[in-house]
Amino acid sequence: MKWWNEYKRQWDITTDLDGGINKVGGDGATLKNRQFGFLLDSGLKPSDKFLDIGCGCLRGTIKVLDYLNEGNFYGIDIAKGLTDLIPEQMSRENVKKKPKIKVNSDFRIKKYFPKVKFDCISAYSLVTHLYPEDTERLFKGVSEALKDDGVFYFTYFPVANDIDSFIPGRFEYSKKWIIEAGEKNGLSLEDITMNPFNKGPDYQQLIIAKKIKI
Ligand SMILES: C[S@@+](CC[C@H](N)C(=O)[O-])C[C@H]1O[C@@H](n2cnc3c(N)ncnc32)[C@H](O)[C@@H]1O
Repeated sequence: MKWWNEYKRQWDITTDLDGGINKVGGDGATLKNRQFGFLLDSGLKPSDKFLDIGCGCLRGTIKVLDYLNEGNFYGIDIAKGLTDLIPEQMSRENVKKKPKIKVNSDFRIKKYFPKVKFDCISAYSLVTHLYPEDTERLFKGVSEALKDDGVFYFTYFPVANDIDSFIPGRFEYSKKWIIEAGEKNGLSLEDITMNPFNKGPDYQQLIIAKKIKI
């Protein structure tokens, strides 16, 4: 809990400094195509209920909004300064899709979208900013909000030394920590070898998680 205000402060400052969109990290145009291409290849359907956690200004997932049926796109972000930029990004067709965006930071997804269970949840470049207690909260919130056969994709920075479980400042995690934290919070990590995102200088690893069947 203590970090959230700091996150919020950081993201709000970042947003104020540069109108947000160019300060989120990475190359927006590439991310837009990469995230959409990956989700499409992974079987995302227009009828799926989709949630983007850490959606920012929809820089990475505006194409997903284009693709989904009306009412199926949901987003959460900590920074109002970023979500306020969403209307600027949207075409008239996008507006008709009626995306539902909430500003909050505690990953209590069920509380914010109580009537929805998601087929697909994505958190691109979010764990790369989270401390372990918040990553665990994220996993718990996701496992509560996913359909039984739903799927969760997220990225993280792996530790370079293979010894530490978490390196503050760099926000790097060991694979072991990530797997155990997922399991503790109701998620099994299905495939951690496939990674369409790790080419070039961006070394985020992609994890595919499903709900543990009880
Ligand atoms: C590096 S950006 C990635 C944005 C977007 N996913 C993309 O690929 O363009 C990280 C995003 O996570 C959001 N964020 C950070 N901490 C958060 C939290 N606790 N809850 C919700 N969003 C958070 C930030 O405001 C920011 O939009």
